[in-house]
Amino acid sequence: MAINWTEAQIEEVVASVIRSLKPERAESCDSWSAESYGGRRLIGVFADMNEAIEAASRGYKAVRAMTLEEREKVIANIRTLCREEAPKMAALGVAETKMGRVDHKTAKHILVADKTPGTADIRSEAKTGDFGLTLTEMAPFGVVGSITPSTNPSETVICNSIGMIAAGNGVVFNPHPNAIATSNYAVDLVNRASAMAGGPEVLVASVVKPTLETADVMYKHPNIRLLVCTGGPGVVKSVLSSGKKAIGAGAGNPPVIVDDTADVKKAGKDIIDGCSFDNNLPCIAEKEVFAFDSIADELIGAMEENGAYRISRALADKLAEIVLVDKKNPKTGVTSKIVNRDCVGRDARVILEKVGIHVGDNVRCIICETDFEHPFVQHELMMPILPIVRVKNIDEAIELAVKAEHGCRHTAHMHSKNIDNLTRFARAVETTIFVKNAPSYAGIGFGGEGHTTFTIAGPTGEGLTSAKSFTRQRRCVMSESFRII
Ligand code: COA
Repeated sequence: MAINWTEAQIEEVVASVIRSLKPERAESCDSWSAESYGGRRLIGVFADMNEAIEAASRGYKAVRAMTLEEREKVIANIRTLCREEAPKMAALGVAETKMGRVDHKTAKHILVADKTPGTADIRSEAKTGDFGLTLTEMAPFGVVGSITPSTNPSETVICNSIGMIAAGNGVVFNPHPNAIATSNYAVDLVNRASAMAGGPEVLVASVVKPTLETADVMYKHPNIRLLVCTGGPGVVKSVLSSGKKAIGAGAGNPPVIVDDTADVKKAGKDIIDGCSFDNNLPCIAEKEVFAFDSIADELIGAMEENGAYRISRALADKLAEIVLVDKKNPKTGVTSKIVNRDCVGRDARVILEKVGIHVGDNVRCIICETDFEHPFVQHELMMPILPIVRVKNIDEAIELAVKAEHGCRHTAHMHSKNIDNLTRFARAVETTIFVKNAPSYAGIGFGGEGHTTFTIAGPTGEGLTSAKSFTRQRRCVMSESFRII
């Protein structure tokens, strides 16, 4: 889907949203939803986290009072607005975060609108027997505190909102500090959808300036019954150590194996399609390839035919010095490599320019042959750079791919027609998502069966989250009655 936004158009969208986030009397306003500002006002965005939580608590009461049909009306409106405003949110996300691609982000919003489950995801269970009837119902937690990322900002806010509201919860968001305008635009969209359906004006809430401190207020507030975190390793760890029930969706480093039974041409195309999708920002995207030596040349050729630009090993080493930088841990004094924020989610063309190579927009991805120890294999880069490691056989492929995944148990991919090889790798890698013979995004319902989400909770076990992930079970027992057979 080609969306050709001019820079001037993108700047205008960003400026209008930023204007709506900058009231004249920032300190004195008690509710950002109650006043209008220079730009169009954003509904549900508060100056203070405590106020946002109070508003989300009122939203929760309103959702509890709604019938399922009424909840579905709100959700239907969220889907409609999400589809209609997908290009705008996509452009805003790229402009604000400097990451990703407008056409792919547009497609991701439409995917969220179409394939995020609503209330149908919530199912009760009944057990009858000699002692009567026992009913298990999936109840809301209350107000959910949601930490959202910069990589898929509005997509995550909208996807979380649909699932959490479908489950009967209220929601307060603490968006990533680098994606505030985009995330809060999505909060406003959800609230507009609510008002259109006769729901509360503020159904979900957020803050003007989210920080780790506002997140901490959220962690500690008694009204917050469930925390859901989609983000980098640091913020996921902080949520999991909050002492509250938490769902954590963290990092991965998805490997791909291509064996000698694969449709190699298709594999080359699928891998480049998946790896370059939104410039590799989705956490499920292909991050390193282990190719049988016997088909590696053909695979690389197929990748080049599909928009990959091959660089030498020497240039890969030079690029590694740029896309990974040293960061000293202030507490331990230990220095380690982290991704260079200025390269994450950038176009392949922009990354190549950093090593003096000028190419056109037809180049979607940078590929290079490396050994297993290369930093491109070991680090999750989240940019369109794909290292390819040659392997002798399936044993070596599985051993190295499992090691490269670093036990994140997030996502892995394989191109093969050998069911024994496919089964062996799936069993060994133990990932939440395992995609066979398709681009990675098939794993989140894009050209693959199943629902979508951008909150993939491997560490805490919910998997691809949906409405039922945000519920708690309640049992109701009727003794010696209601078994009607
Ligand atoms: N609210 C408040 N603070 C947040 C936050 C949020 N929603 N998300 C992150 N932060 C904090 C981090 O804890 C970190 O604080 P610290 O420097 O004190 O440790 C700081 O903001 C910077 O965050 P981080 O995102 O780690 O750094 P970055 O902006 O330089 O990194 C990425 C950008 C893209 C590399 C990183 O965000 C990332 O790994 N994202 C993956 C997100 C994702 O989608 N994960 C789940 C997939 S299922």
